[in-house]
Amino acid sequence: MKPIKVDDEYFENLNNALNMEIQAIIQYMAQHSKSEMLKMRKKASPLQIITGKNKYEVLSAKLKEIAIQEMDHAEKIAERIAVLGGRPTTKSAPPKIGDNYDDFLKNNLEAERGAMEYYRTIIKYAEKRGDITTKKLFEDIYMEEEEHYWLFDEYTE
Ligand SMILES: [Fe+2]
Ligand SMILES: [Fe+2]
Repeated sequence: MKPIKVDDEYFENLNNALNMEIQAIIQYMAQHSKSEMLKMRKKASPLQIITGKNKYEVLSAKLKEIAIQEMDHAEKIAERIAVLGGRPTTKSAPPKIGDNYDDFLKNNLEAERGAMEYYRTIIKYAEKRGDITTKKLFEDIYMEEEEHYWLFDEYTE
């Protein structure tokens, strides 16, 4: 017997969260590789020459780092779904990539805000059902999404 009673609706919610994590992975990885190309093409300012960096280079490294954190989120959510007896989705919510620095940040702030909003609902839902492990998992993930949000906000010009 499973310790927690869950139904299809519960798995649907958890899989929606997994869709959002997969979206973030695809989105940030794609932006990372685009930034790798853009950092070569952008004309550098004197400050960029002195520091040896331009904004695409800085953002590119961060995007790679955050994409890996999103993979960790996806994996943990998928594991939780499997433990509860569900089937983790392999589908993604539609990624919004963009063509330049400003687009990337705008789309990413939207994605992080959307995830946080949705995870607040999941936390409440999990608590109502007594699924403390899922609640705790999403609280931990939430903290990292908030960090991502503020980081993208800080990089916004
Ligand atoms: Fe995430
Ligand atoms: Fe995130």
